Amino acid sequence: MKITIGSDHAATALKDEVKKVLAEFDAEINDVGTFGTDRVDYPDIAEKVCADVTSGKSERGIVICGTGIGISIAANKINGIRCALCGDVYSAKMSREHNNANVLAMGGRVLGYGLAGEIVRAWMTTEFAGGRHQIRLDKIAALEKK
Ligand code: RB5
Repeated sequence: MKITIGSDHAATALKDEVKKVLAEFDAEINDVGTFGTDRVDYPDIAEKVCADVTSGKSERGIVICGTGIGISIAANKINGIRCALCGDVYSAKMSREHNNANVLAMGGRVLGYGLAGEIVRAWMTTEFAGGRHQIRLDKIAALEKK
C-alpha cells in the first residue's frame, strides 16, 4: 500500500517511529516532511499529504502535529478527506471500520511511541465494513457540496 506521511516540527520524532511501524506492512512511504526542527505551518503539511490521497498517488495518509488537532482540522477541510484524530487503538480501528478514514492524525506531543505504533497497526489492518456506514459517508460527501 502507498502511504504519504507528514508532520510539522513538533512531531518529526514520532513520524520517524511511525515509518518504522509502516515498514512492517511493506508500505511504500512518501515522506513529505518536515525534516528538521525549524518551524513549519501544519496546514501546509496537511495539504501536501492530502493532495497525494485525493489524487490517488497514495491510498492513505498519516498526518502528525503536536496535538494532532490542528493538522486534522486542516486535513478535514479538503474534499474527499476523512481524517481521524486517534489517541487510542479502539478509535483507530473504528475510524477504518465505520468511517473508512483515509487519513490518520496523531499528536507527537501526546502519544508515546508504543501506543502510537499500536494505533498505526490497528489502522493499517482494519477494513471498512461498508453497508449502512457507506450511506453515512455518502451524506458526508454531500455536505462537501453544500
Ligand atoms: C506547534 O507548536 C503546534 O501548535 C502544532 O504542532 C499543533 O499542536 C497544532 O494543533
